[in-house]
Amino acid sequence: MAANSYPQLNRFKTLSQFRDRLEALQIDLPLDDRILSAAEGSPLARPIRIFGKAVGNRWAVNPMEGWDGTEEGKPTAHTLHRWRSFGRSGAKLIYGAEAVAVRHDGRANPHQLLIRPEHRRNFAELLGSLRKTHVECFGDDRDLLVGLQLTHSGRFSRPDPDGKPKPRILYHHPLLDSRVGIDPSDDKPLLRDEQIEELILSYIAAAALAGEIGFDFVDIKHCHGYLGHEFLSARSRPGRYGGSLENRTRFLREIVEGIRREVPGLPIAVRISAFDTVPFRADEGGRGVPEDFSQCLPYRFGFGIDRDDPLRIDLTETLALVGMLERLDIQLINLSCGSPYYSPHILRPAYFPPSDGYWPPQDPLIDVARQIHTARTIHQRFPNQVHIGSGYSYLQQFLPLIAQAGVRENWISCVGLGRELLCYPELPADTLAGEGLKTRKLCRTFSDCSTGPRNGMISGCYPLDPYYKKMPEAGIVKRLRIF
Ligand SMILES: Cc1cc2nc3c(=O)[nH]c(=O)nc-3n(C[C@H](O)[C@H](O)[C@H](O)COP(=O)(O)O)c2cc1C
Repeated sequence: MAANSYPQLNRFKTLSQFRDRLEALQIDLPLDDRILSAAEGSPLARPIRIFGKAVGNRWAVNPMEGWDGTEEGKPTAHTLHRWRSFGRSGAKLIYGAEAVAVRHDGRANPHQLLIRPEHRRNFAELLGSLRKTHVECFGDDRDLLVGLQLTHSGRFSRPDPDGKPKPRILYHHPLLDSRVGIDPSDDKPLLRDEQIEELILSYIAAAALAGEIGFDFVDIKHCHGYLGHEFLSARSRPGRYGGSLENRTRFLREIVEGIRREVPGLPIAVRISAFDTVPFRADEGGRGVPEDFSQCLPYRFGFGIDRDDPLRIDLTETLALVGMLERLDIQLINLSCGSPYYSPHILRPAYFPPSDGYWPPQDPLIDVARQIHTARTIHQRFPNQVHIGSGYSYLQQFLPLIAQAGVRENWISCVGLGRELLCYPELPADTLAGEGLKTRKLCRTFSDCSTGPRNGMISGCYPLDPYYKKMPEAGIVKRLRIF
């Protein structure tokens, strides 16, 4: 299998080499010369007001699932380990923690967490241990905001121990149906409007429970190809939830209205895939290429992309959605893109692919920059909202330099970390304390955190986190690598 032809970031020993590479790729990103500590006035140390509360700094933990719950959907010791890591990161915004299904049939895997009244105590324990760890490390959690991400996995549901796809879809997708075994002429997996109305009630009940447990807000997940995201592209769906943008956002509005009615005062946030692309697959050499979409034009099956050239971004509807969220008084929005199922390279740029993946079609720096630029466009158009950026982990040793410059130059409100937090949870704390980076702990994007779950194992940083490194799974995952 062909290796990448472009350089790994750990090859860049100086900032000027990295600047040269960005220039060669014609990438324009804000980039500081050195990491600033809080005492030196780092922009990342500036508090920010979210939902009326002063949140202590501009680092956020993006939601990171572990595929490590019990079959009933309760957390395990592994889940606790992960949530404690979030607590000791030093980030003051825990944006959603991880995707939690509002109903059994909406679980993305048989080990996804499930929020239901019988699990109240377990979720309270998770939240409590995250907050306790944070207080032990930093002395205070009054400036810490913790939300819970609520989801239904829709097309990508695999809720049962047999691990088989049990998709619930909104419309037939010409390129994705076959990937989860849907016969294009079979309408059984299509959710009917009455079923959608029932599901909305499940979201409202889940939000009420999250509020009772003590979460500061809930995220109504609208990204990554899951059901909320699929609504946004349900143009071919007839009825109240498809067709016009007004109809495609009705699901979200009805959930928001329901939560406001039943749980007044519980803040709501939304994570969106701000743009999408067509599904990618590996070519004969293992490199990512777009599926042939020539028979699907104009392409009506994505959100935030150009219908006539779906490999290009078109933010017209994305900006309309964000404007609608502003009118709904949703103050906090997390910006992501694409889907891990059909376009992982745009969502979580990586040098090395997971076992079922493909080699990146281009230098992953281009994919990182695309997310950062899109977030900037949205942030500058809606300056009164708080926006969380995503997709920074690939930046490795240059991550804090771009993060702090981006916040200073008002490209984004807060910088969210995903994979970096799995292997080097203390990165925010270390940088703010002026301790610099422990470069040996940096995520080098081996994608083992995805290879594990794709092969029925729990997720975690097998190469670097001592907790996972000693598990038998670490050896198995390493053998499954395709590089
Ligand atoms: C192992 C793993 C689990 C993830 N779980 C979630 C999740 O539960 N909810 C979600 O919205 N995104 C999830 N993501 C996406 C991340 O939040 C993030 O957007 C992505 O990894 C890119 O950011 P990064 O470059 O900092 O890793 C997950 C990603 C990985 C690799």
